[in-house]
Amino acid sequence: MIALSTVFILYPMDLILKQPNELEFKKICDYINEFELDNRSLQKDEFIAAYRNDELVGFGRIRKHKDCNELCSLGVITNERRKGIGKALVSALTKKEPNNLYLVCIIPDFFEPLGFVETSNYPISILDKIDYCSNELVVPEKYVAMKFKRD
Ligand SMILES: CC(C)(COP(=O)(O)OP(=O)(O)OC[C@H]1O[C@@H](n2cnc3c(N)ncnc32)[C@H](O)[C@@H]1OP(=O)(O)O)[C@@H](O)C(=O)NCCC(=O)NCCS
Repeated sequence: MIALSTVFILYPMDLILKQPNELEFKKICDYINEFELDNRSLQKDEFIAAYRNDELVGFGRIRKHKDCNELCSLGVITNERRKGIGKALVSALTKKEPNNLYLVCIIPDFFEPLGFVETSNYPISILDKIDYCSNELVVPEKYVAMKFKRD
């Protein structure tokens, strides 16, 4: 298997997706706090970052739990949203780890066309994530669990 850090995936709009370096990872951590995303156990190697013209424009990660994989900490820089960057990141992350892959979100309409379906049957780690989101990342919307179905 080729390490992702050596693979540069070229998407439309001059978008480059690759693993972040240490400095870029620090920026990602700042954005994660700014966007109030899951900031627990952040590890650089779990992330894919999106760049346009050498500028960081988005990021996401696959967190490996004992009982499943979780797509989480997904974010696109505010003035770069609705340009297909989030979609490109999810596509790259699901290609990287399509197996036993879940997420917890408040925007199922965004994830459904990308191969995720809502589920009420999920591993303990995802139950813990729902508890964490409901208690620590409080929003008016309901958190839902989704599983990646497309292969
Ligand atoms: C959610 C987020 C990652 C989407 O990134 P993005 O780059 O704006 O999304 P894209 O431009 O790739 O959108 C892809 C499709 O999803 C739709 N979409 C975008 N944001 C959406 C949302 N919040 N709800 C529903 N659909 C959405 C787009 O209209 C687009 O549809 P199309 O393919 O029919 O044109 C981005 O808005 C973000 O960073 N939000 C704040 C952090 C966050 O909520 N992260 C998710 C945590 S689970």
